Amino acid sequence: MARVTVSDIKAMKRRGEKIAMLTAYDYPTARLVEEAGVPMILVGDSLGMVVLGYDSTVPVTMEDMIHHVKAVVRGAQRALVVADMPFMSFQTGWQDALRNAGRLLKEAGAQAVKLEGGVRVAETVSKLVEAGMPVMGHIGLTPQSVNQLGHRVQGKTAKAALRLMNDARALEEAGAFAIVLETIPAPLARLITERVKVPTIGIGAGPDCDGQVQVFHDIMGLYWAFTPRHTKRYAQVDEAIRGAVADYVREVGEGAFPSEKESFPMDEEALAELLPQESGLSRGERSTR
Ligand code: KIV
Repeated sequence: MARVTVSDIKAMKRRGEKIAMLTAYDYPTARLVEEAGVPMILVGDSLGMVVLGYDSTVPVTMEDMIHHVKAVVRGAQRALVVADMPFMSFQTGWQDALRNAGRLLKEAGAQAVKLEGGVRVAETVSKLVEAGMPVMGHIGLTPQSVNQLGHRVQGKTAKAALRLMNDARALEEAGAFAIVLETIPAPLARLITERVKVPTIGIGAGPDCDGQVQVFHDIMGLYWAFTPRHTKRYAQVDEAIRGAVADYVREVGEGAFPSEKESFPMDEEALAELLPQESGLSRGERSTR
């Protein structure tokens, strides 16, 4: 089965087909989300919060990203895998960005990278695109700038909204194949989506974006620090896990697990042969060797 390409994703916008993107950070999740029909997987640096237990994405390193991207690529045969560029892997200049994006594609096996920022990263985006690397932009609430922006809705005033429109245009001109719009007013997201030709992928940006992205752990009930308003619980997997683990603990305690079904038999003759030898050993032969 052929892998989804960035051209396929752009064609979905032209056909008016909505794009459902989801994060994954490991092999089994990548397999499951792909089997369920997700055409584009994001290995987000959100893994720092939902998998590694940090309170922001700031501490995530290139090595963390490479480790998780490799696992996702092993699980996703068909979906386009987009790898997030972690904090300080691209802010220090386009040469560093080129080197680090190259590692995510060449060493880890992703098909595209994503980086946060608009006008200020446009030159970097164009350098990566010139080098043959598909780039997804990310504007609005950019979590790597949490120490500057907090978790507030972005683009609420006309001036701030205009800045975001300019960011989106700059990313499109620089060659980004899609743009994530995070936590911005829905009418502004609709306007940006109408103005740019590349797909917009919303998260907390209303229903009119060309696609949506969500953090897997948010929609499955596997992240507890806070629940963003833009998310929806599609399953309560934490309850299923707690229940199953409690059953396991109880059955081990009661001696009900493992039963005969989960145990391996031994040939009666072999056991009969073993017992006299073993009792000889326990009488002291072991110490004479
Ligand atoms: O890291 C991530 O998961 C993201 C999404 C929130 C878009 O950047």
